[in-house]
Amino acid sequence: MVENGGALIGSDADRERAARLRTEIARHNYRYYVLDDPEIPDAEYDRLFSELQALETRYPELRTPDSPTQRVGAAPLSAFAQVRHRLPMISLANAMSDDELAEFDRRILAALPGTDPVIYTAEPKLDGLAMSIRYEAGLLVQAATRGDGSTGEDVTANVRTVKSVPLRLVGEAWPAVLEVRGEVYMTREGFDRLNKGAAERGERVFANPRNAAAGSLRQLDPRVTAMRPLRFCCYGWGEISIDPDESQYAMLQRLAGWGIPISKELRQVEGPDGCRTYFDDLGRRRAALPYEIDGVVFKVDRIADQTRLGATARHPKWAIARKFPAQEALTVVESVEFQVGRTGAVTPVARLQPVQVGGVTVANATLHNIDEVTRKDVRVGDTVVIRRAGDVIPEVVSVLVERRPPDAVPVEMPAQCPVCGSDVLRPPGEVVARCTGGLYCPAQRKQAIRHFASRRAMDIEGLGEKLVEQLVDSGLVREPADLYRLTAEQLAGLERMGEKSAANLIEALERSKSTRFARFIFALGIPDVGETTAQALASRFSGIGELERTRDSDFIGDRGVKGIGPVVAAEIAGFFAQAHNREAIERLLAAGIHWPDTPAPAKTPDALPLAGKTMVITGTLSRPREEIAARLQDAGAKVTNNVSKKTDYLIAGEAAGSKLQKAQSLGVAILDETMLNALLDRP
Ligand code: IVH
Repeated sequence: MVENGGALIGSDADRERAARLRTEIARHNYRYYVLDDPEIPDAEYDRLFSELQALETRYPELRTPDSPTQRVGAAPLSAFAQVRHRLPMISLANAMSDDELAEFDRRILAALPGTDPVIYTAEPKLDGLAMSIRYEAGLLVQAATRGDGSTGEDVTANVRTVKSVPLRLVGEAWPAVLEVRGEVYMTREGFDRLNKGAAERGERVFANPRNAAAGSLRQLDPRVTAMRPLRFCCYGWGEISIDPDESQYAMLQRLAGWGIPISKELRQVEGPDGCRTYFDDLGRRRAALPYEIDGVVFKVDRIADQTRLGATARHPKWAIARKFPAQEALTVVESVEFQVGRTGAVTPVARLQPVQVGGVTVANATLHNIDEVTRKDVRVGDTVVIRRAGDVIPEVVSVLVERRPPDAVPVEMPAQCPVCGSDVLRPPGEVVARCTGGLYCPAQRKQAIRHFASRRAMDIEGLGEKLVEQLVDSGLVREPADLYRLTAEQLAGLERMGEKSAANLIEALERSKSTRFARFIFALGIPDVGETTAQALASRFSGIGELERTRDSDFIGDRGVKGIGPVVAAEIAGFFAQAHNREAIERLLAAGIHWPDTPAPAKTPDALPLAGKTMVITGTLSRPREEIAARLQDAGAKVTNNVSKKTDYLIAGEAAGSKLQKAQSLGVAILDETMLNALLDRP
């Protein structure tokens, strides 16, 4: 270490160590961001990085522009400077069909007689933002967007933050000047993560990875760009101070050798057949790729042939983009309807002006749930981007707010089920809203009856999915109770149903009438009430009547029924609040469903926590006195009106008066509500 006018100068060893760390870190970046094949754990990478940072902080003169610590070094800009491209950045002609691709191949054969078959390089057409990155003497000196093709924007500071872009070329014999061209893009995973974070913070989300990549690169503050999960993939070059290799394929491999990321999918293919095979294969794998692509790019592989073919003003004649059908389109929301699914989930669906997307006409798109509608702020009358990805249901991606008509109508969740009129319930903290008319709602009919009949519910042997379909579709069964009115003749009249099986089913129905309370509760198909919860309810409630009267969800929760939190309690209360459901249950009981009157185990008097205790309630409590009295009685206590020597406990609320005084004078134990709750919750 040497002192030099106040600044510390590192020793030769420090200098060597810093250089070594820079190379090491750059190599690990490459393995991680380009090859997706890290060699060392993240913690070890962090350690190397910190060591370099520490060295550079101590000896600022060791800090070089290509140091990995300098990816974010620049201050925010007020505007991007303009960059004139030394060679124009032109775009590609498109082929929308195999025929158009064959036509392209014929044109090339005509211009280059004797080359049959033409060798092409094939690679994905990434959906991102075109970028030109210039290296001089092996160092990244400038990065520019395509702009209008001849002038772009200087986004050097931002591109330096993209970890897959080398700040310094590696290997040997790189040219003094090298302009690489490629696409800056975002992986699906990175995009999802970015949007998730933005949504959680209540920020605007990006419609797709391409927009996200473009938006991230056009940040004036490189520190913002640095936090975006951007990648770079090179597909060509611009100005270059050496002669390129003989083929596109070999040249790209050479660039890769200098640390420039190229596509893992890069191949050489022969003639239009080879192109088609590659296109079809990538099309099949498209959804599984970690990034979005909108087609495949084919380029005549021999550079000499490229030169001979030349370019038009807009496109090279030696390359073509074979596009997948577009997956996004613009259209107008004509209305928003609410569909009720088989499980009662109420889903908003946009009815659209029909539009062609990816080769099919789309007239409806899902809006998923009301939270999504609010987040995307979709209104009736809005122009929206819709997307259809493969077999996935088309969805509304985003709204073009600038095209919103003044009379656009916001969307609201209906309070009643559009199918059956029962209340729509959305338990606190839940995303999905549900129709509460489970036993009655036509939309849920088949599901409700199938569940009712299932083995762990009413166990109606022989009543499977197909038969339920038939029964409902023929109008014979509209609700579970209808099952018990079926006659053997009616059944025998159904397709694929013989007399024997009809008789068997009637018998199975008869048998199922004798059941257990827990099974019956489970069979009702109350959302979120599985077998365990049904068991728990059955042991805490004396019968269906008591359960039905329990409209107050807090009360259900308060009973301390195992496994019942506020959401499930709300579902149960919501279910029984529907007269439709209560009537359907009434009809089931009238049909003869019954279960043995097993006293709930917790009700055997001695086992109850307050068995044999006499209690008095006074003052103002958090809930009606009757309710508290009922809870105490359930717990085995005798509740009386007056305090006496026989009183074991006085439950005293606020503003308790004479009873409290009397209890104090008699030495009766006094409990407030918290203590009472503790007492009741005791096992
Ligand atoms: S070659 C002269 N190859 O698609 C050749 N372009 O319309 C010009 N793109 O803006 C481009 N992946 O950003 C080429 N593998 C690929 C590509 C690709 C995506 C973009 C490029 C350009 C547009 C062409």
